[in-house]
Amino acid sequence: MDTALSQSCASTHETYEQAVQRIWRHTTTPPTDAMALQQESVRYATLAASSHNTQCWKFKLAERQISILPDFERRCPAVDPDNHHLYTSLGCAIENLVQAAQAFGLKGNVDLQSTDAINIQLDSTQPLRSQLFEAIPDRQSTRAEYDGQPLRNEDLKLLEKAATGDGMNLILLTEKQAMETVLDYVIEGNTAQINDPAFVKELKAWIRFNQREALRDGDGLFAKSSGNPTAPHWIGSTLFDLFFTPKAENEKYTKQLRSSAGLAIFVADASTKSHWVRVGRAYQRFALQATALGIRTAFLNQPVEVATLRPQFANYLGIGDRRPDLVVRFGRGAKMPNSLRRSLDSVIV
Ligand SMILES: Cc1cc2nc3c(=O)[nH]c(=O)nc-3n(C[C@H](O)[C@H](O)[C@H](O)COP(=O)(O)O)c2cc1C
Repeated sequence: MDTALSQSCASTHETYEQAVQRIWRHTTTPPTDAMALQQESVRYATLAASSHNTQCWKFKLAERQISILPDFERRCPAVDPDNHHLYTSLGCAIENLVQAAQAFGLKGNVDLQSTDAINIQLDSTQPLRSQLFEAIPDRQSTRAEYDGQPLRNEDLKLLEKAATGDGMNLILLTEKQAMETVLDYVIEGNTAQINDPAFVKELKAWIRFNQREALRDGDGLFAKSSGNPTAPHWIGSTLFDLFFTPKAENEKYTKQLRSSAGLAIFVADASTKSHWVRVGRAYQRFALQATALGIRTAFLNQPVEVATLRPQFANYLGIGDRRPDLVVRFGRGAKMPNSLRRSLDSVIV
């Protein structure tokens, strides 16, 4: 049996490196039967970004249709009380799914009438392996310092193009002064979040302090992916309580932002669930285009996550009463250890 489902099952003795190789790869031989193709498209969808790596999605397969549903059991009420990030994460998965389906000769028509179950109709088309599709297994949220070098204008234009349209706008900031102003908002937001016990408790619950925990759950924030050492749970947990402070985190974010070539701020035309899905699709295209150009990305969402700060940030950006949806930094730099994913049988319902 060589279906996507069988390939996605973790073996009990797998090492972290083996899991990464199993998860972050292209299909070797595209399956020929329709259901296996859909499963394989879903596998690519699960390689998308999701807030805290919650993988807050479920998939239903039917004839010529895949539906993606929110998994509210995986919501994060402290950082994401209105489910903005949850729906954005669904959008990220949808974009990967559409790119993969196209590579397999299926055009995905996404119906955003209902966000309870987003139906993606699949019609036959010529197979096309887009640049974005090719980049899916290499994309990651790279939480590290970058090389501090500016990007070429052609590259900035490609990034902008990837994220714009279909109700989405992108503000690109590469001037030092503007980036420093955004840094002030990041620091203010980060300080507020770390001083909020509910935010810290929720974040800590999604941290996987060592490989065993990450392999067991296949989700969450693996310590090493954020540049932190791994440790047995009780030690990791104690160190987190001691060292996760506004001062230490603000210093880290300052260095990371100042090493970046620029910032991208995603702003949808409206603030509805279907627009939040569009935000996710736009982010995913942006990140895949960046990956295709050898450019790394990472989120700095504090200014849009802290509800009291968001209107001030919107005011600074001059976007009227629209909501700033995401803040992403970009630049060139080395890859970090990958995050993991759950198996397909836990997300296909
Ligand atoms: C809507 C959304 C919000 C996110 N916010 C943050 C954030 O504020 N900080 C951060 O470091 N990562 C953030 N992430 C990145 C996720 O943590 C990341 O996608 C997940 O851990 C999986 O890792 P990967 O992107 O490398 O595959 C966000 C992702 C999404 C989709």
